[in-house]
Amino acid sequence: MKFFIDTANLDQIKEANELGILDGVTTNPSLMAKEGIKGHDAVMKHYKDICEMVDGDISAEVVSTEFNDIIEEGKKLAAIHPNIVVKVPMIKDGVKAIKWFTDNGIKTNCTLVFNAGQAILCAKAGAKYVSPFVGRIDDTGWDGVQLVEQIVHIYNIQGLKTQVLAASMRNSNHIVRCAEVGAHVVTSPLDAILGLLKHPLTDSGLAKFLDDAKKLQ
Ligand code: G3P
Repeated sequence: MKFFIDTANLDQIKEANELGILDGVTTNPSLMAKEGIKGHDAVMKHYKDICEMVDGDISAEVVSTEFNDIIEEGKKLAAIHPNIVVKVPMIKDGVKAIKWFTDNGIKTNCTLVFNAGQAILCAKAGAKYVSPFVGRIDDTGWDGVQLVEQIVHIYNIQGLKTQVLAASMRNSNHIVRCAEVGAHVVTSPLDAILGLLKHPLTDSGLAKFLDDAKKLQ
């Protein structure tokens, strides 16, 4: 399973990358706005900076909703760096655009996916990734990981090549559960990634080992 970080914060991307386990980055307009990035040139530069930091797929989201505009915007994003993946929303013109990008050699990530029917359309259009939003489904009282499992199952039995990129992770347990059901990629905030390191018995065990090590000197 690949590990992506879900942020536009360069310090957090650097920290995750230095762990040596990072395979890519996902962003969205909300995450970009959170970093205070303003204006077209600043947005493009920020994506370029991320591409230069991490050697892996970097999702950059279009903000257009009409087919021709999505294509124009996506072409500009894809031109920033070969690792850019154009993130396209699950709408009618988005599906058409994903098919166009696929036919023209541009990688896509279909975002805002909340059911298996949407995921089937993404795959039929040739998206490299489909992004089911696990945490946002959980927020409505349902089980987001179950949707990831269902999409993985459908793709497997149908031989669909799109990779399931579990998004909207809220905690480390989401990462483990998505791994368990066969997600190809998980994109998580830094704290959920770092949470995987933690166990109180690791801390107390290490303290005891270090204490006992003093007796060896
Ligand atoms: O990037 C898409 C997704 O991961 C958003 O997550 O936390 O805003 O539901 P969240």
